[in-house]
Amino acid sequence: MTDSRIAKAPLGTGGPEVGVQGLGCMGMSFAYGPTDAEEARATLERALELGVTHYDTADAYGQGENERFLAPFFAAHRDEVVIATKFAMTIPPDEPTKRIIRNDGPYIRQAVEASLKRLDVDVIDLYYMHRRDVNVPIEETVGVMAELVREGKVKQLGLSEVTGGELRAAQSVHPIAAVQSEWSLFSRDIEAGVVPAARELGVTLVPYSPLGRGFLTGSFADAAKDLTAGDFRRQQPRYTGDNAAVNAGLLETIRTVAEAHDASLGQIALAWVHRQADVHGLPVVPIPGTRRRTRVEENTAATRIALTDSDLAVLEPIAEKVAGTRYPDMTFTSAGRE
Ligand SMILES: NC(=O)c1ccc[n+]([C@@H]2O[C@H](COP(=O)([O-])OP(=O)(O)OC[C@H]3O[C@@H](n4cnc5c(N)ncnc54)[C@H](OP(=O)(O)O)[C@@H]3O)[C@@H](O)[C@H]2O)c1
Repeated sequence: MTDSRIAKAPLGTGGPEVGVQGLGCMGMSFAYGPTDAEEARATLERALELGVTHYDTADAYGQGENERFLAPFFAAHRDEVVIATKFAMTIPPDEPTKRIIRNDGPYIRQAVEASLKRLDVDVIDLYYMHRRDVNVPIEETVGVMAELVREGKVKQLGLSEVTGGELRAAQSVHPIAAVQSEWSLFSRDIEAGVVPAARELGVTLVPYSPLGRGFLTGSFADAAKDLTAGDFRRQQPRYTGDNAAVNAGLLETIRTVAEAHDASLGQIALAWVHRQADVHGLPVVPIPGTRRRTRVEENTAATRIALTDSDLAVLEPIAEKVAGTRYPDMTFTSAGRE
């Protein structure tokens, strides 16, 4: 068992060392169809055995349900895990495409108390602003988040889907440990602004959806046909219809690299994200999401695949050929404001 544990990486300057791959827990309660709760719980335990110590959730995932689901696991392993959660976004259950974004002080204070209660912990290890509300200066938002650190409710601060400029403004108020943004073979817009700013400021990059929400593994070809009603991916432009057909064709390029390494498509997608730490010179801790033990084994094993420079050259053209945007409404993303 010890041999299969993954390497470590720092979470922010002077922050704790975490397993170099974290676990995205969102799908255990939200967005990706029905879940086998027993298998999901076993997946959390298996991940820990493999050296995964950084677990990612948010108050928005299932309207608090995901935080509640994780609480017993965190209670059993409090000293071994780094708990990351987020505030700022509400998704009305009857309007699943709608996003209500709040970054103001009274909202943050209410949100942190609710997350602490659902998680059943005294302190949140890493607290993220999930989405940016452009009506509130980011310095003001981070000022309130910094008060939470001083009050002992939160240990480290993070930001999700921010621009390089927003990260710099935030860092002038309080050290930011991590930026969480979509980063994968299909989604590379953050390399222009956020990644250079994070490197310069000593911020760890936490790539979300590093498997392209599962599409990069080849496990589904068209969300509208292959996934259950209510699955969030059916709303995403790049995973349905003509766009999905174009994008499925791009997997053939990944397959050539996978065959050379005797690896799966998903492992190559993850190995590429891990390799960006060397390419860009900063700590990178992706949080692939899975609810299955066999997949967490497969995903963590990808940390040991060393892609060559010629592999990277083969994979390089993929992102610019992807058809369709990441979200139906890109104004909520950093790319929409960059
Ligand atoms: N900050 C943000 O705005 C934001 C946005 C989205 C997500 N996130 C966070 O990032 C985490 C990861 O992102 P994500 O879950 O959207 O996407 P992802 O990690 O790219 O993909 C997850 C999907 O891939 C499947 N999968 C995982 N490993 C697999 C494997 N080895 N083979 C085949 N399929 C596999 C999962 O299915 P199973 O679960 O059935 O295995 C799930 O459907 C989330 O859990 C969440 O914590 C943050």
